[in-house]
Amino acid sequence: MGKIMQKNQIFSSISSKSPNIPSQFDILVIGSGAAGLYAALRLPTHLQVGLITKDTVKAGSSNWAQGGIAAAIDPSDTPSLHFEDTINAGAGLCEPEAVQFLVEKGSEAIASLVELGVAFDRHGEKLTMTLEAAHSRPRVLHSADTTGRAIVDTLAQQVLERKNIQVISQAFALSLWLNESTGNCQGISLLYQEQIIWIRSSAVILATGGGGQIFSQTTNPTVSTGDGIALAWRAGALMRDLEFFQFHPTALTVPGAPRFLISEAVRGEGAHLVDSQGQRFAFNYHPQGELAPRDVVSRAIFTHLQKTKPDPYCVYLDLQPIEAEKIRYRFPNIIKVCQQWGIDVFTQPIPVSPAAHYWMGGIVTDLDSSTSIDGLYAIGETASTGVHGANRLASNSLLECIVFAVQLSQLAVKPQVNVDDTRYQSLPVRKEQKDWSHEIEKIKLIRQNLPQLMWHSAGICRSQAILEEAIAQLNIWRSQLADLDVIQCLLKTTPNQTVQLSSNQAQQQLKLAAETLNLTDVGYLILKSAAWRTESRGGHYRSDYPQTSNEWQFHTLIQGDCWRKSPNITK
Ligand code: FAD
Ligand code: SIN
Repeated sequence: MGKIMQKNQIFSSISSKSPNIPSQFDILVIGSGAAGLYAALRLPTHLQVGLITKDTVKAGSSNWAQGGIAAAIDPSDTPSLHFEDTINAGAGLCEPEAVQFLVEKGSEAIASLVELGVAFDRHGEKLTMTLEAAHSRPRVLHSADTTGRAIVDTLAQQVLERKNIQVISQAFALSLWLNESTGNCQGISLLYQEQIIWIRSSAVILATGGGGQIFSQTTNPTVSTGDGIALAWRAGALMRDLEFFQFHPTALTVPGAPRFLISEAVRGEGAHLVDSQGQRFAFNYHPQGELAPRDVVSRAIFTHLQKTKPDPYCVYLDLQPIEAEKIRYRFPNIIKVCQQWGIDVFTQPIPVSPAAHYWMGGIVTDLDSSTSIDGLYAIGETASTGVHGANRLASNSLLECIVFAVQLSQLAVKPQVNVDDTRYQSLPVRKEQKDWSHEIEKIKLIRQNLPQLMWHSAGICRSQAILEEAIAQLNIWRSQLADLDVIQCLLKTTPNQTVQLSSNQAQQQLKLAAETLNLTDVGYLILKSAAWRTESRGGHYRSDYPQTSNEWQFHTLIQGDCWRKSPNITK
């Protein structure tokens, strides 16, 4: 930890006219969640790796993961049972080959994490596993209720010890740099130390996580603004299934509190979901009750709330069925956070309601984590590997981060020859001195209103008229943004110059503008995809088309402004 601080401080405090990072790396990894950190560790050590991250190293969903990581390693379990559960949860849209790959590599991934030093909970020598919704076996390994922190701490420490990896934090990837004649990805543009610079690399790996911040109700951290999806889409990469967003049933619902996740593992260990009258209602909606697939439980809560209209507008998780000792051992962080908001989980039910949690859609990748653009790779939540289909099985995401990041260890990349660190000095510097303050007020307004619009139009329940209204509003915002000088400054920078900003304030303004641009692009992609798919399936529920339709047994493919169906997926 001390080491991380030291390195971050060096990179974030030095401010010079020439950036203190090389102008080229062999490989750039964008994002320092489980996917980015693990990929950086697995890349061949003779390659110089730049690990770019827009906040501190540990900011991201991975660090917040609670329930754990799924893998069929118990003697009573098999990869084929894990395969079946994943396919069933995915509601007909999983890619069987990708799922097979994921479940078969599960035990190897866990062994590697254990070897690196991740301290999963054990009973004696044996790793302990819990049950989560839609799993037919207890197969979720955990480290109390802060599994993500245990993984990220271990991986970050290893990364910082690696000589071939340079961590560059508080550095915001703005766009992908494509070769004009080949179309290959050959680097990125980066907002760093009050400058916009272009960094060259033989390969770029996007590991930028999800986009929960597009919704006003989300369990995701502030860095989850869908940047990787927006960058890849604008560069022309093939995208898939962007309408499929997972809404977690149980986020803390207390006025003034963030939507802190109350892990599904709490229900896995036996907690009941009750309404304001103390009635257990989940079995009215599905035979598996509280442990039905996540989309089903979220919709059950949504429908039950609409029917009963309680005040406050929430349901409750009652932990009384779990032994107090077990609660203390398994959920120390949940106890602590609830206590901070005045809830004693031993005697009071926890007020909860659904919130946007995980984006199943993303940048299309194959088993090697390659995208449709040569030189561009994607891993973790930003990728669409095909393993989650229309609805992710709980705790499969951390596993996916690790299993698909390993694939990059085979990346055949030629080290950059003729390393030329005088490149920055040889480029003309464009000084950007404009005052963007009044434009920033407009951007802040859009940034504030967009997540509300998305929650009401593309949240748990969607319909054509509301989606179309939202698309019209979003298009107004997108064209207002396009007219702003600060956005033009972002879009018009070219690799043959460096842009020097006037102050740290200008850098913060540009970052807000870039994130808002990304959010409006991903909002547009979600809305258009949700309006396009006229059926209900997994995380995508349409009140005007409430049934799953065989005619939609396809992925949604998007490239530029073209939406089309994939070839039929065999069930
Ligand atoms: P992240 O961990 O989100 O990392 C993304 C990184 O990209 C961050 O470092 C971010 O700063 C950086 N970044 C983003 N944009 C830019 C940019 N423009 N420039 C530079 N850097 C950028 N899954 C499970 O399997 N099990 C669980 O128990 C579980 N619990 C969860 C609990 C919570 C509260 C949440 C929110 C999610 C949970 N999930 C869980 C889902 C899982 O945590 C995520 O899907 C997974 O961690 C994503 O990892 P990632 O590496 O792809 O992205
Ligand atoms: C949880 O702990 O409920 C989250 C697990 C997940 O998102 O996979």
